[in-house]
Amino acid sequence: MQEMHFCFLNNYKNNKMTQKQTELVKSTWALVSTIDPLVVGGLFYNRLFEKEPGVKSMFRESIAERSKTLIATLSYIVAKLDKLEDIMSEVKKLARRHTDYGVKHEHYIIAGDILMWTLEQGLGENWNQEVKEAWIECYTIISNAMIASSGQEIHKAA
Ligand code: HEM
Repeated sequence: MQEMHFCFLNNYKNNKMTQKQTELVKSTWALVSTIDPLVVGGLFYNRLFEKEPGVKSMFRESIAERSKTLIATLSYIVAKLDKLEDIMSEVKKLARRHTDYGVKHEHYIIAGDILMWTLEQGLGENWNQEVKEAWIECYTIISNAMIASSGQEIHKAA
């Protein structure tokens, strides 16, 4: 049995989702995005702060604002799934802002685990191994780009 916690960098195979994975992420996101953003955000942030209390002080916005941003960001990424390379320069800028918020590489891994858990709660019986792998691939592409960009920034600043 594979360990629950996954390491993006070790799991990382390629930089592309299959057509099937793209379809699975889109169709399952269509379901999750019908849920009240506060419910989804509440699940995500409560679990994040429970598992990683140290990150709580990084956040300035209300849970309502953050939940809206979480859903809007995921909707934006899912809408661009067929051409993720088009949003990579935005992702790089986002990564630099995250470095300023105090976000460290390991936080991306924790947040990925919690995103998977949140999606599982939201999808119920529609969550399965294939759906999970599709979402992991999607999150891996974005978070690896974020980690790589924040690394470059640290390197440049040194
Ligand atoms: C692929 C992963 C992630 C994406 C796509 C993402 C996306 C975003 C976006 C779009 C914002 C809005 C503000 C801005 O554009 O700068 C934001 C804010 C923020 N994010 Fe992330 N994020 C990710 C991972 C993380 C992680 C792992 C952490 C730390 C645990 C984190 C902590 C924050 C904080 C502290 C803010 C500021 C919001 C506030 O002040 O309440 N993010 N994120």
